[in-house]
Amino acid sequence: YSFKNIITRKKEGKELAKPEIKWMVDAFLSGEVTDYQMAAFLASVYFKGMTPRETADLTGICFESGKTYDLSSIKGWKADKHSTGGVGDKISFIFSPLVASYGIKVAKLSGRALGSTGGTIDKLESIPGWKAELSEKEFIDVVEKTGLSIIGASANIAPADKKIYALRDAVEMVDSIPLIAASVMSKKLVIDADSIVLDVKVGSGAFMKDVPTAIALSKAMVEIGKAYNRKVVALITDMDKPLGRTIGNAIEIKEAWETLNGGGSHDVIEVSATAVAITLVKAGLFKTLDEAKASVMNKLKTGEAAHYLSDMIIAQGGDWSVMNNYDKNFSTKHHIEIKAEQDGYLKFVDAQQLGFLAIELGAGRKSKEDHMDHAAGIYLNKISDEKVKKGDVVMTLLTNKTPETNWDKMARTTFILVDKPFAEKTIKEIIE
Ligand code: URA
Repeated sequence: YSFKNIITRKKEGKELAKPEIKWMVDAFLSGEVTDYQMAAFLASVYFKGMTPRETADLTGICFESGKTYDLSSIKGWKADKHSTGGVGDKISFIFSPLVASYGIKVAKLSGRALGSTGGTIDKLESIPGWKAELSEKEFIDVVEKTGLSIIGASANIAPADKKIYALRDAVEMVDSIPLIAASVMSKKLVIDADSIVLDVKVGSGAFMKDVPTAIALSKAMVEIGKAYNRKVVALITDMDKPLGRTIGNAIEIKEAWETLNGGGSHDVIEVSATAVAITLVKAGLFKTLDEAKASVMNKLKTGEAAHYLSDMIIAQGGDWSVMNNYDKNFSTKHHIEIKAEQDGYLKFVDAQQLGFLAIELGAGRKSKEDHMDHAAGIYLNKISDEKVKKGDVVMTLLTNKTPETNWDKMARTTFILVDKPFAEKTIKEIIE
């Protein structure tokens, strides 16, 4: 194959054959194709797009470039779930135990915090002793024993995507639908799950800022799923507001635990229950989404799925007893209350800024080596659309750091108080 021929045809908007795409990616990985040549190729894709077939081929080439997991020894339906990243997103800790309680297995690879969004692995590491790195055999053993396992995505997952992504980032070519879809799915398909629910976040705290783009991305990812015989359903969910009442690490695990035990806020319950219900219908356990959802809501009320979360954490070495005395084990030196200066209904306007504020408080890393304070974070005394009176505490900043004078201002830029309730839906669309 020739680089010139491939790029000329892509520039003309022609469809490339799989061997041509594979040659490009392999030659880029080996160094035969240079960064500037690959950048030119990515720019051609950026402007001319890729057909669903090309996008699926690129996805396969990327996931086959690294480690894949063979879970065929695990019997029955295997379900996965993935979020494109949000603020206060603890859905995986509720989804996975619920699904497991129906006998469906969840073997999940998760990531760390990125930008303003938290990371599933960082949150689980709040529990002392919990191990994110398991061998493939240990991973399968935990799934067999507890119904679920969550481990960290190792460096050898889709290395082709890593190298391509770094180049896209350097040349401002990230925001291309086929390239994002292939990138996200290449990291999901390394696990051979039968069904995948994608939680595509949209809004001020998300990578996707508007609904039409989120729909286009969701459709592209669902198509890739079909090409690989996976049942993929995408939820498009609101990230103009943070999810639930907490932003941080240990505090999000606590909120997930409370939700699994009959508590929780309506938005977290809605997203979790819908993602689980979709999985149950795909697995053939229920005929309709409504029936499945009713069953899930009942499990939340009785708390019968909760122990699946603690069982998994204990099986991966975690000392779950710390959660029994949460206030002692995760106390912070400072509790800074942000009080409303007028009456109104709470409307978040900058969820991303809330994510950055949580990092300032110690709940995230500013550089790779930074220490993460698992107890730090934000408690939302009021959530979106809730009625607030002047003087009410809207949120509480939890930190062990010396308080900075700009935190109050930073917190206040994230919300406004409006005259009327606005009843914004958390789930905006379901794409399949
Ligand atoms: N997240 C990814 O994993 N890949 C992209 O291309 C964009 C966001």
